[in-house]
Amino acid sequence: MTRVVAGNWKMHHGPRATRQFFSDFNPDVRPGAVRVAFFPPDVSLRAARESVRILVEFGVQHIHWEDSGAFTGETSAGMAKDAGASLALIGHSERRHVFGETDREVGLKVEAAARAGLVPVVCVGELLEERKAGRLERVLRRQVAAFTAPLGQCDRYLVAYEPVWAIGTGETATPADASEAHAIVRSALGELGGCPILYGGSVKPANAAALMSAPDVDGVLVGGASLDARVFARIVEAAAT
Ligand code: 13P
Repeated sequence: MTRVVAGNWKMHHGPRATRQFFSDFNPDVRPGAVRVAFFPPDVSLRAARESVRILVEFGVQHIHWEDSGAFTGETSAGMAKDAGASLALIGHSERRHVFGETDREVGLKVEAAARAGLVPVVCVGELLEERKAGRLERVLRRQVAAFTAPLGQCDRYLVAYEPVWAIGTGETATPADASEAHAIVRSALGELGGCPILYGGSVKPANAAALMSAPDVDGVLVGGASLDARVFARIVEAAAT
């Protein structure tokens, strides 16, 4: 499977910083050796598409589950597609834990992505207290069960495992931790489990190669280390070797 390296910029890089990023982003990899994707803020999507110099995919960080309506501040899957996104992050841990997004909403959003023909990148992951209490498998199976039915309606999809305790903390899961969780996610997906499963949580150039060599880890979803073009290029290059 071709490895996937995706950058989730969260609430960083407006249009001007986005153009600067892509003028500096030039990883030394053969075309097609790695699938590279970016999730910029919606307002920077156009600048990203206009200034990128290599073949990459773009996605949005968040969609609403309705196709249109009186939902101030929201963007629908169809609108994201119209603006040039082909992917959508769904159920990112910050959406779940900062904005209170529920398993049910995650399922509805996967359904909305399927309707619009957007490729969902659905995120799952446990809290530190859940891991400590021995509930890793139960939590991951519950999160996955909430979106398998709509996922079956999508032609293409990805899943990302992002342990909440490893996001933005500098604390990374070991390659063995990542493999164990990815195997649980794959098994919970059942016959839908042939998709790429990405690891996210404090991925950096120094740990990316080891994580991507771990069994069942098909790529990485990078937050902080995707904001600097040269640093992120090193992660893309690590995926190509
Ligand atoms: P960090 O790489 O900053 O830990 O963020 C991970 C993440 O949430 C990517 O979606």
